[in-house]
Amino acid sequence: MSEVISMKDIHKSYVMGTNVLEVLKGISLTVEEGEFLAVLGPSGSGKSTLMNVIGCMDGFDSGEYYLSGDPIHEMDDEELTVIRNRCIGFIFQKYHLIPKYDVLRNVMMPLLLRGMRSDEAEDIALDRLEQLGMSDRISHRPNELSGGQQQRVAIARALVGDPKILLADEPTGALDSATGREVMELFRQLNEQGHTIVMITHDLNVASNAGRIIRIIDGELHTDG
Ligand SMILES: Nc1ncnc2c1ncn2[C@@H]1O[C@H](COP(=O)(O)OP(=O)(O)O)[C@@H](O)[C@H]1O
Ligand SMILES: [Mg+2]
Repeated sequence: MSEVISMKDIHKSYVMGTNVLEVLKGISLTVEEGEFLAVLGPSGSGKSTLMNVIGCMDGFDSGEYYLSGDPIHEMDDEELTVIRNRCIGFIFQKYHLIPKYDVLRNVMMPLLLRGMRSDEAEDIALDRLEQLGMSDRISHRPNELSGGQQQRVAIARALVGDPKILLADEPTGALDSATGREVMELFRQLNEQGHTIVMITHDLNVASNAGRIIRIIDGELHTDG
């Protein structure tokens, strides 16, 4: 088994004027390839801040972060943009689909951003949409879909570039409980197929779908007993 994520003693503070708020207080975390990890914590505990660090969307003050062996802490913004696009599949609570594009184009976007030819990107996107059961909705706009369908499209988009990890922030937070369970079933299937998943949630029921749960409390990680 290889390590997809290896974090050592990550610290991050937000500075507002003369106030310094330390939000990540020495986070050390290892995630193995093929794991389904849930990071569980209450509101304000630092979950989204940690997600932004894991997803290379935001920097940190000190510590080391290796993603598939690559030293994230040594990279500049340009390198981080490439890593984000190639290594991370993002899934958000509110889907974050592009409203003016249809389903097919939304799913093609990560590949087009890499410079892939449109016909090639379309073939791959169609495959992913079929896998997610969304083949009959490819010409719909996001606002013509239910929440559960929009999240499926977002998952297809996250998967299309074959990322090293799927990184999900409260992926069922905007869904009714039955649809949320369907999305969690989908996550379990994807994990069984070998996808590495890191899911952030405040909900123990949702977290219990994962193979491992760690808690974040006031910017520190605690392993469940
Ligand atoms: N950009 C920011 N600037 C200043 N403070 C922030 C910023 N983002 C988050 N915070 C603060 O950091 C703490 C953790 O926030 P966050 O990571 O969003 O927690 P969670 O996702 O667990 O609710 C909160 O006290 C929040 O107010
Ligand atoms: Mg949050």
